[in-house]
Amino acid sequence: MCGIFGIIAKKSDVAKKLLIIGKRLAYRGYDSAGLAVYKDGVIDLRKDVGTIDYVIESLKLAEMKGNIGIGQLRWSTFGKPSKINAQPHFDCDGDMIGAHNGNIISYYETKENLEKEGHNIISQNDGEICVHAIEKHYDKEQDMIKAIIGGIAEMEGAFAFVTYHKDSPEKLYAVKMGSSLVIGLGEEETYIASDLPSILPLTKKFVPLNDGEIVELTADSYRIFSVKDGSEITRESRISDLSAEDAVKGDFDYFLTKEIYEQVDATEKLAYGLESDVLDSLVEKLAKADKVFLIGCGSSLNACNVGSYYLNNVAGVLAIPVIGGRFFEEYKDYDPGDTTAMLCVSQSGETKDIINTINFAKPKGYHILGMVNVPGSTVERMSEAYAYIGAGIERSVPATKTYTNQVLLFLILAARVGHAKGKLSDKDFESLKDEIHNLSKLVEVTVKNSDERAKKIAKELSKINAMSLLGYGVTHGVALEGALKIREINYIAAEAMYSSEFKHGPLSIVSDGYPVIYVVAPNDKYYVISHISEVECREGRPIVIAEHIDGLDKYVQEEDYFEIPKSSQLISPILAVIPLQLLALYMSIERGINPDYPRNLSKTLTVD
Ligand code: BG6
Repeated sequence: MCGIFGIIAKKSDVAKKLLIIGKRLAYRGYDSAGLAVYKDGVIDLRKDVGTIDYVIESLKLAEMKGNIGIGQLRWSTFGKPSKINAQPHFDCDGDMIGAHNGNIISYYETKENLEKEGHNIISQNDGEICVHAIEKHYDKEQDMIKAIIGGIAEMEGAFAFVTYHKDSPEKLYAVKMGSSLVIGLGEEETYIASDLPSILPLTKKFVPLNDGEIVELTADSYRIFSVKDGSEITRESRISDLSAEDAVKGDFDYFLTKEIYEQVDATEKLAYGLESDVLDSLVEKLAKADKVFLIGCGSSLNACNVGSYYLNNVAGVLAIPVIGGRFFEEYKDYDPGDTTAMLCVSQSGETKDIINTINFAKPKGYHILGMVNVPGSTVERMSEAYAYIGAGIERSVPATKTYTNQVLLFLILAARVGHAKGKLSDKDFESLKDEIHNLSKLVEVTVKNSDERAKKIAKELSKINAMSLLGYGVTHGVALEGALKIREINYIAAEAMYSSEFKHGPLSIVSDGYPVIYVVAPNDKYYVISHISEVECREGRPIVIAEHIDGLDKYVQEEDYFEIPKSSQLISPILAVIPLQLLALYMSIERGINPDYPRNLSKTLTVD
């Protein structure tokens, strides 16, 4: 997944503003970067392998002059990271420049066709064939909208593309074909970018786009055209309530640290709105559903795992978590009737696996519901009803506050649905609401109380290459999330599984000092004690995250016990993830890894 962006302005100072946007898209791709700015008949293209910060320094991007420019940050799919495969790319004559985000799955075939027609394609990157495909039609049509429509017909894939041509340097063009893209409206300048947060330092005024739409931007106007037939589409602009401040590190060393600490505010804000009418539609549709599939990927899938416990046990709704990329294989012949809902959980609202699932399920009659963090995102706009998790901008690639707010929103929805259906009495509903309102204080205590112990254990675990995390009942999803955090920013084999499963095979991995982390909810503590002793008696090293458990000291060293504040079976799993987030963070720092941008990963995968 990559980041694309562009500016068309009256003044010739776009380079610095392009870099403001580009730096905020760094989470989308950081193996190469490039900028192409136009002035007086010349397109100045500068690109190379390396992070955007490196390329800015080495190629002096900030000094580029011009009133129109585009840029791209690359997470490689087609073609290894190299200068020639970096984007943007020229067409054959050097009159047009373009960059894409996404995948052209017809790459080899389209490349061959274009080369047969005489196009000189010099890279192995699929972004380059977008430029040549459009060039082919521009040479005939001498009209960029028609050329883009014609070029798209030459290709298959899911992507977004931004381009401009020397013949019309006062116009910037872009097209959304399956990857995220949004317009920003400034003062005598207009922006295009892969996500909304990246343009917030420049403007809060944005225009969301749908797939199959081409935009023509000038410094003070925007027009939208349909790829299908070139007809013009009108769409009002919106004002974002996200703030740009959300996404600067402040006095934290890493975004990850900042965002772990921000869970206090994020949970407080979300809890504050637990009875808000903005949730009414989602609550109503969940209350009517006789079953709901919970669809997610990565940390969002782990949140679905905890969420299914809440919906099944508090709301009395049959909830089934399913991997985003698996649903249309697993349930291809399932008939949803008209009472099956699908709750799509995606903080970016742009993950391709989720969008593929919606495109599969919607025509079959599933009621599509959304849980997103980014307003105006694709999943939001494909849903009958949706809710925001309100976590604010999350910059670090590993999810933390967005995962926690997803779990909290599941609990809020389960409480409201359970009460609406009479499964939760007024009294129980009131007490659960009180617990939810009190949660952020417990989050704050947990973050503070876990920090030192996490740092200490991280030092001891900084050399290990494998560990197991076990959850039981409501904490199974928490163990999955903890393992994902540790794995993705430490590059080690951290496995997670259901606690009762460990003895059926995986237990063989335990030998002297092998770390096994148990995430234990209050009602399950005595059941899990037998699991802990199975590891302790085989010289393993049990590490426990739980509220107080009498007699635990028989099996667990005091320094291996994260005692989280007393709460309840439903609240405890939200607190229990915090020691795991901090442990993963400090282990990563011990290993000299930048936890914000782990190798090979990307924050939002808009590719298959
Ligand atoms: C992955 C990210 O690419 O996508 C994970 O690295 C994230 O952190 C997953 O959880 C799902 O993303 P989203 O935006 O759909 O929640």
